[in-house]
Amino acid sequence: MTMKEKIEKIRKSLEEDIKSVTSSRECQELKVKYFGKKGLITELTSNMKELSIEEKKEVGRISNEIKNEVTTKINQLEESLKEKELNEKLESERIDISLPSKKLKRGSRHPFQRIIEDVEDFFVSMGYDVVDGPELETDENCFQRLNVPLGHPARDAQDTFYIDPEFLLRTQTSSVQARAMQENEEKTPIRMICPGKVYRRDDDATHSHQFGQVEGLVIDKDVSLADLKGTLELFAKKMLGENTKVRFRPSFFPFTEPSVEVDVTCFKCGGKGCPLCKQTGWIEVLGAGMVHPNVLEMGGYDPKVWTGFAFGTGLDRFAMFRYEIPDIRYLYTNDIRFLEQFDRKDEENEIK
Ligand code: PHE
Repeated sequence: MTMKEKIEKIRKSLEEDIKSVTSSRECQELKVKYFGKKGLITELTSNMKELSIEEKKEVGRISNEIKNEVTTKINQLEESLKEKELNEKLESERIDISLPSKKLKRGSRHPFQRIIEDVEDFFVSMGYDVVDGPELETDENCFQRLNVPLGHPARDAQDTFYIDPEFLLRTQTSSVQARAMQENEEKTPIRMICPGKVYRRDDDATHSHQFGQVEGLVIDKDVSLADLKGTLELFAKKMLGENTKVRFRPSFFPFTEPSVEVDVTCFKCGGKGCPLCKQTGWIEVLGAGMVHPNVLEMGGYDPKVWTGFAFGTGLDRFAMFRYEIPDIRYLYTNDIRFLEQFDRKDEENEIK
């Protein structure tokens, strides 16, 4: 076969090949077919040794020409195929940025927690510490140090979950009063609140076996019932609105003397009278009083030097009122359908 014929053969073969190539990967295979070790163009110059210098020059020139021609054609083809492939890829992986995004799930603050935080904000602004105490408590802290002697009806097994004769689930956060006094070894003034859970053997729509309380304790020199009243008045206004009024009724608690029960004007009717307040216009929300001298003494505070007041209130009722929750049990059963209603958006509407 003459050189001319060989070149012609290569041209024909390339023409055919180019027609059937459909991807850039196949272009790579073509390059091997023509320029590989045993490639058609490589073969052109394989027996150069036998040629004269003149012939070598000629063969070199012609083979270079065809080499360039083939290279250009294959590269052009490859480039256009690559572009086509890229376009196809872009099309198939296209993202529609106008589609609405998936809704981000965001947790919400539990209504009970919101109330606690408001209570804390208020008392911290008045210079109180927020302290904590255990829910599993000793009989001593929950009763004895609060002037509730053995045999007192308040510690009846019907009301209290006893673990054993010594330990119980606290029935009141007042146990933290006893702790705060003992723990303050320097016997300096105390100004603290303690929000937390308490447990009693009750279970219906307004009483549950667990509920939240906040305890308050102030010990200092010359603390009076007027201080207690002023504090609770401000507290009630903060939690229930500026127009709320407060009244004290004489009462009894073993750990305070005198003791009072504190009513606020009905949060629903504002004091006019409605089913919630049983037409009285008042709702009882708090127990309070001046710390009993026996309690001060047991806590290591000399009652001749120190005076104090204490108060305790249920937190659930504030949450039930503010969020119109009909059953106290919703507050601790953690039903997701209930919790999801407390979107962060509505926090702006809370009474501040
Ligand atoms: N611990 C009392 C209760 O649970 C409330 C209270 C606290 C009363 C502090 C007086 C002083 O009912």
